[in-house]
This record gives sequence, C-alpha cells and structure tokens, in this order.
Amino acid sequence: MKHKKISSAVIHRLPKYYRHLGELIDTGIQRISSRDLSIRMRVTASQIRHDLNQFGGFGQQGYGYNVKSLYKEIENILGLGNKHNIVVIGAGNLGRALAHYQDFKARGFHIVGIFDNNPDLVGDDVSGLKVMSVSDLPAFIKDNDVEIGTIAIPKSEAKKMAQVLVDNGVNQIWNFAHTDLHMGDGVVVENVNLTESLMRLSFMAALELEKKQ
Ligand code: NAI
Repeated sequence: MKHKKISSAVIHRLPKYYRHLGELIDTGIQRISSRDLSIRMRVTASQIRHDLNQFGGFGQQGYGYNVKSLYKEIENILGLGNKHNIVVIGAGNLGRALAHYQDFKARGFHIVGIFDNNPDLVGDDVSGLKVMSVSDLPAFIKDNDVEIGTIAIPKSEAKKMAQVLVDNGVNQIWNFAHTDLHMGDGVVVENVNLTESLMRLSFMAALELEKKQ
C-alpha cells in the first residue's frame, strides 16, 4: 500500500539502484555512502536519499548504506524474490528474441509459453518452448500460474489479445506494440518502446551538437 504514492521517476530508477548494488556486491563492497553511490550512478546524493527515503530510508548517518541489505530491500520492493511466469503473445521476430534472452530468468522472470495465431508457426521450437495456438491460451494460463502477458503482435491486435489475457486473470501486461494500452483498474501495463528511446537519443544528440556551435 505504501508504494501507492511512489512517482514513476523513482520506479524507473529502482532497477538501476538494484543493478549498481549487485555490481558492488560482486566486487566485494559491503557499504557505501550516498555520495559514493551518487558518483557511481551519476545522480545527486540528495536524489538517492530522497528516493530511498520513500521506502523508509535504509541508510544510517555516518555509515552509509549496507550494500547487501539495501540490495535485498530493493529486491523485495521490486518483487524480484519470487518466480514470475510470463507468456509471450506473438512468435515473430520480437517474441522469439524475448524468449531467447536468458537474463530474464536470472531475475526471476520465466517465459513459460509463447503463442501465435498463425497455424504455420504452431509447434516451432523457440528456445526449448513449443509455439502454441492462441486457442490454448486460457487453459495454459490457468494451469501455469501466469502473472505477466507480453504483447509482441501488431498494434491492430494488441488490445484484443491484452483483453484475452486480462479476462483470464493476467493483470500485468508488458506491451511492445506501438499503442498505449489502458486496461482498467487493477491491471498494470508497462509500455516499452525502443523507437521512442531512439528518438530521445536523437534529441540528445541534437542538443550536444547545439552546445558545440
Ligand atoms: P512479426 O511480424 O515478426 O511478428 C508478429 C507475430 O504476431 C506474427 O507471428 C503473427 O502471426 C502474430 N500475431 C498476429 N496477430 C496475432 C494474434 N491476434 N494472436 C497471436 N499472434 C498474433 O513482428 P515483430 O517484428 O515481432 O513485432 C511485433 C510487434 O512488436 C509489432 O507490433 C511491432 O511494431 C512491435 N515492436 C515493438 C518494439 C518496441 O520497441 N516496442 C520493437 C520491435 C517490434
């Protein structure tokens, strides 16, 4: 409940804290001041204190942060301690690329099924998973404790298939189709858009160019 008022900017930064803390653990560092963490992460120390205070602080005056316990706290906040089963809708280029990527599993995100409405693709092997027909989706969700549904299909089909997921009890939608999905109360949607990311890169490059002129 206390996460309700957390800004989306903070939510976006939490995985970054988690990644940096994981790297610190790998190099044997046990504690870190907010100043040193800020240098490493290229954000201000007050930003770090402000962000982490929203979850109750975790730091100690004069001591800094205990790296391992902060890592564990953020892991809990992000819900990474548990296994999350994911289905991918669309066994095209993107759906296959996602299914092939092994690092999701290391973070507790398991792609357990991939579905397509093209009968020619049903039965294909994708990273050890057999592509299934979308007609098998409701039963599969029921039997496999699916929490997250990935939309990797054309945008014209995205809303319809997201609704099928929601109607079958999946309330986390990871949407790659180029349309913002709003699925109503109780359903969370993360829209991912690499094209928009490229546009931001292009904008930043234009700003850099301006600075030099
Ligand atoms: P693709 O054409 O290779 O694959 C799409 C697959 O979806 C096909 O196999 C097709 O049979 C299947 N499909 C269509 N309607 C379906 C339905 N109702 N149920 C199940 N399967 C269905 O396309 P690609 O390159 O894999 O892209 C997929 C989607 O992801 C597109 O909307 C594309 O614009 C988007 N995309 C988004 C990116 C991002 O950064 N957000 C990056 C790359 C692609």
